[in-house]
Formats: sequence, C-alpha cells, structure tokens
Amino acid sequence: MKRISSFLLIAALFLTCGAMRTWAERDNSASQIDYLALVNKLNALPKDWEGALQTVTITNSVGDEVEIEAKAYDAYLALKKDLEENDGIYLELDSARRSVAAQQDIMDRFIEKYGADYAAKTVATPGYSEHHTGLALDLYFRLKGGDGKFTDVYYNEDMVQYPEVWEKVQTRLADYGFILRYLDGKEHITGYGYEPWHIRYLNNTDIATEIMEKGLTLEEYLSGKKAVDVTIDLGKSEIFSEEDLREAVVQIKCAFASWEGCELHSIRYASDECCTDEKLTWLNGLSEDGNYTQAAEFLMNFHSPKEQVLAWEADTEYTDFEMWLARGEDSGWEIVLQRYG
Ligand code: DAL
Ligand code: ZN
Repeated sequence: MKRISSFLLIAALFLTCGAMRTWAERDNSASQIDYLALVNKLNALPKDWEGALQTVTITNSVGDEVEIEAKAYDAYLALKKDLEENDGIYLELDSARRSVAAQQDIMDRFIEKYGADYAAKTVATPGYSEHHTGLALDLYFRLKGGDGKFTDVYYNEDMVQYPEVWEKVQTRLADYGFILRYLDGKEHITGYGYEPWHIRYLNNTDIATEIMEKGLTLEEYLSGKKAVDVTIDLGKSEIFSEEDLREAVVQIKCAFASWEGCELHSIRYASDECCTDEKLTWLNGLSEDGNYTQAAEFLMNFHSPKEQVLAWEADTEYTDFEMWLARGEDSGWEIVLQRYG
C-alpha cells in the first residue's frame, strides 16, 4: 500500500490531455506478464495474468478513463510524441485494458448497433479479447483545423476514411515495440477484419520490427509459420458489387480462423446461378428467421491439419468446399451452410 501512495504523489505531477495520470500498481513485483502472450479466438487470457499486471489509468480527450499496462503506456506516449512532432498526427487512446464484463457490454452494444456479423468480426468473445491483457490499444486521433481547434475522429466508420493517417502511424509502431494486430487480408488467421486502430505492445522493438517488416500476424510469428497467400477470385457478377463480394469473403475468412490447424489456400465466388429463388427458399428453410433476400455461394480450398482434428481427414487438401452465405434487406452476410462433396 505504501508504494501505491508514493506513486500517487508522483502521479499528481503528470497531466495527460488535461487529465491526471493515476497508477494502480499491485504488490506483485516478483511475477511478470508474458509480453508475447497470444490471446485470440482460440486462446483465452492466460491464468494469473491479473496478478502480475501493472497498469496506469488515464483520461482521454472525450473524458473516458482508459486503463493500460504501464510499459505499454510509456511506449504509447513516445509514439504519440513522435507522430505529433513529425507527422502532425494527434493520437488518443480509446480503449486498452478491458474486464470480461466490459467486453460483454461492447459486444452487446455492437450487436445492437451494427448487427451480429459485424460484431463477430470486430469484437472478441468475452474472455478471449487481447484487450484483457492491457497490452492492446485502440487508437483514435484528433484532427487539427486551420483555426487550431481539434475534432475527434473517434468512430470506426469515421477512422477508416483516413488511410493516409494509419499508414503513417503504422510505419512508426515497431520503433516503440508495437505491432498492428489485425491486418487486411489476414482475417483467416486473426479471425477479425482489418482494424487500423488496434495495436499491440510487445515490449521488444526487434521482434516488433521483424513482424511489421514481414507483414506477419502475431499468430504467424509465434508458430514460426511463413505467411501463405490466399488466392481470392471474385469472378464476374451481375448481381453483386465487388464490395459486396469482398465483404462476404471477409466473413468467410473470419470464420475460418477458428478451424484449428487448417491452412486456407483460396476462396472463389461460384457464380450468379447461386442466387436463384430456389436457392433462397432452400437457405431460408435452413434459418430460424427465413428473411434472406440474397444468397451467394463460395468455394474454398484448404489443407487440413497433419494430425486428425474433428471430422477432417488428416493432412488432406480439400477442394471446392462449399460455403453458402445469405443476407436480408438490412443485414450483412451470414454463413448459413458449409458442406463438402
Ligand atoms: N477488437 C478486438 C478484436 C477485440 O474486441 O478484442
Ligand atoms: Zn481493439
């Protein structure tokens, strides 16, 4: 308790975004967290994590309290300073450490606001979020106007309108021990869509540099696997736009990430013949609500794990595995049926 009081005294001297910096340090300096811990759709937060975690709590520009692992916070401050001074980019922290209950609240809010499909590829199941570690940071930024006033660019749909900002942020991450965690095109490995705002602290600039330079996910780095390219063939469609089809592919890739040990090789759109009334009736019959108005079939090639897992034949190339997706008037793509042969 003594240590906490002395930290609080020091903390009172620090001001961040006009807010007091406070420390929450626990009496456990002997144990240490593993800065390379993998928390993803298949791996929950390691046991005893909380006991070893040391955090800092700050208040961001929109008045929210954000708790973050102590070293990650220092690295974030250095990154923020660099970007402000050299690129005129003003970073802020939206969210860092979250409890399981807080993650559940976010999941509920996202399902209500954006629907279950968007939520599934954006928000982790409570207990399986990297945010539980305190090492994952969701950034947002403030735009400085000609009058010197700042505007918060805070919501996901607003932030993605500024790819040039994220490109600059990404080039600086590794210098401070951070990596970009959810890469565009790697949804089948991470299980989440591209999130330019979600970065992860590794406390190791060499490893972070290797990961960023090679364009790896943390999963690929830790398993020693080489990145395998996935071929995407959207074919030609009179019914769907390229964006529609890409969105369906992301949905398939996010689901594929949970197929333990399988390696994805290709996804191709079957043809417009999949969207007939007959197919729609069939898919609506398989769903509880039966509100689908469009259907799309994709064919997937992937390789099963060396050892037999679930119903897969061991070490086998599955070709033309069928993935049937459908959507309603106001809803996103859902995977309705997966089948082989
Ligand atoms: N946005 C990431 C996937 C999470 O909810 O942990
Ligand atoms: Zn995040």
